[in-house]
Amino acid sequence: MTASVLDRIASLRIVPVVVVGGADEGTNLADALVAGGLPVAEITLRLPGAMDAIAAVADSHPGVLVGAGTVVNAAQVDQVVEAGASFIVSPGTFEPVIRRAQEHGVPILPGVATASDVMRALDLGVEVVKLFPASVVGGPAAIKALSAPFPHVRFMPTGGVNAANLHDYLDLPSVIAAGGSWMVERPLVTSGDWAEITRRTAEAVALAAPKAASTDVEG
Ligand code: 3PG
Repeated sequence: MTASVLDRIASLRIVPVVVVGGADEGTNLADALVAGGLPVAEITLRLPGAMDAIAAVADSHPGVLVGAGTVVNAAQVDQVVEAGASFIVSPGTFEPVIRRAQEHGVPILPGVATASDVMRALDLGVEVVKLFPASVVGGPAAIKALSAPFPHVRFMPTGGVNAANLHDYLDLPSVIAAGGSWMVERPLVTSGDWAEITRRTAEAVALAAPKAASTDVEG
């Protein structure tokens, strides 16, 4: 299960990081993402109703890969797994969170910002990590630099990723996907502008699609 979920994230290439609360916001958001061609969401535990949103999406949208983000302690791991989260993202590399997710058999992408964080993640058996906050800790250059000592580590950069710099990250071989909120900014949710979320999502999906093969023939 761990491998297949991570494979799906790697094939989708983008993980929307969302702040929603309650079942209705969750399911409306899922509809908007699906309409935009991106059936995945990291629902962050930042609103009281986040857990309900995760449960509602997991129940009503079996085709959507729903994960939980901003998971910072082991009790939250239990709660999001109970709610139906298929993957877990944490801002940092914190052993109790990682161990509990592993006990549940649910993929965990812990946040790393330094080589020491990567070493802790590797020591705990995790090879796919979230670079966070990606733009602050060096962006694509940080991933290139960290890939030298850790060539097997795979990254999901998150924090400051947007349509303009998406490819700077996705073009790196060690990046499986990029996470971000630019498609699903909170004001779009609170105003119910699901159409704009769908538009931004479709735009991001098109951007992330493999570039068309060049028609130039060399040699
Ligand atoms: C977060 O945890 O909020 C994510 O890193 C999203 O960052 P972004 O809002 O810069 O995309």
